[in-house]
Amino acid sequence: FDAVDVIAAKRERRRLSDEQIAWVIDAYTRGAVGDEQMAALAMAIFLNGMEDAEIARWTRAMIDSGERMDFSGLSKPTADKHSTGGVGDKITLPLAPLVAVFGVAVPQLSGRGLGHTGGTLDKLEAIPGWRADLTNAQLMAQLEEIGAVICAAGSGLAPADKKLYALRDTTGTVECIPLIASSIMSKKIAEGTNSLVLDVKVGSGAFMKDREAAHRLARTMVALGREAGVDTSALLTDMSTPLGLTVGNALEVRESVEVLAGGGPADVVELTMALAREMLAQAGLPDADPAAALADGRAMDAWRAMIAAQGGDPDAPLPAAAHTDTVLAESDGVLAELDALAVGVASWRLGAGRARKEDPVQAGAGIELHAKPGDEVRAGQPLLTLHSDDEERFARAREALAGGVEIAPATSAAATAARRAT
Ligand code: URA
Repeated sequence: FDAVDVIAAKRERRRLSDEQIAWVIDAYTRGAVGDEQMAALAMAIFLNGMEDAEIARWTRAMIDSGERMDFSGLSKPTADKHSTGGVGDKITLPLAPLVAVFGVAVPQLSGRGLGHTGGTLDKLEAIPGWRADLTNAQLMAQLEEIGAVICAAGSGLAPADKKLYALRDTTGTVECIPLIASSIMSKKIAEGTNSLVLDVKVGSGAFMKDREAAHRLARTMVALGREAGVDTSALLTDMSTPLGLTVGNALEVRESVEVLAGGGPADVVELTMALAREMLAQAGLPDADPAAALADGRAMDAWRAMIAAQGGDPDAPLPAAAHTDTVLAESDGVLAELDALAVGVASWRLGAGRARKEDPVQAGAGIELHAKPGDEVRAGQPLLTLHSDDEERFARAREALAGGVEIAPATSAAATAARRAT
């Protein structure tokens, strides 16, 4: 095969053969196909798409590029969830220990943030002492003993995706259903979970901005999972505004602990419960009561054990940023919009995310929300508190927020709400 022929075939909207797909992924993983050739192919796929059979073959080739894990030696069923990425999406933190309470093993092999979306590992690394890297033996032992593990995916799982994802991130080829679906599902299938719940985000802060596209992404991923023998389902959830009242690493850990203590913002609790119920049903426990495990402290106990097992001190104070800056409401009315993408980019600029893969993140940086869309606000009241170790970052964060915060006069907001309701 020749890489140029494969690129030209997709450029001309032809279907790639099974052999072409297997060859190009393998050759790219080995370095025989260059980044510039794969970038051209990714753009051809972005523009011209792939049929379902091509996506399935592409996913299989990415799985075959590395090792597969095997949890069949565990004494309990495994359940996993994956979010397609959002702003303030800390759900994995309370969810993994909550589901583990019921004797289900939850292996959350997670990533770091890139761009405006946060990464689960960056959040947990705000906890003093906590380590993301576990050997396979440590992972298995922790799943057996505690049930919940959140750790870094080893470099052996779908190495083709690691290379391709970094390439897509720098070539404008991320927001593409065949490429997202194969990227996520190759990792999840290689991980070897029995069941998987996908949290497919829709809205400004998500890769898929509209419902129709998010639906198609969800259907594509569910089909890939089921074909590979993974019991897969998907929820479509809103990402037009941040989840909860915090965005940023330590701030999101604090809010997750509030949820585990039986409190926390209603939207975070609601989504945690919905995903927990789905995971427990798939694990054969449709009657399990996750609300009770939050209320009586069992989920908190599992969280503490999970953090301590990975070297973290669950009682240590979380790091706080050196400086804060408060954004005030400019008028009376109703908060009509608090855009997820604007808040995500602002938090990233404050130091919660990184511009390049090798950059460090600030544990304390991020944004606290004092109001959510639909809330009444008064001129001069705090809307957002920005946190950063560098005061000079506040101006650029405020620029990112401009246009993403909108206060409507109470009457017109009420009129809009009434129109929507009819
Ligand atoms: N998350 C992934 O792992 N891959 C994508 O392509 C998008 C989100």
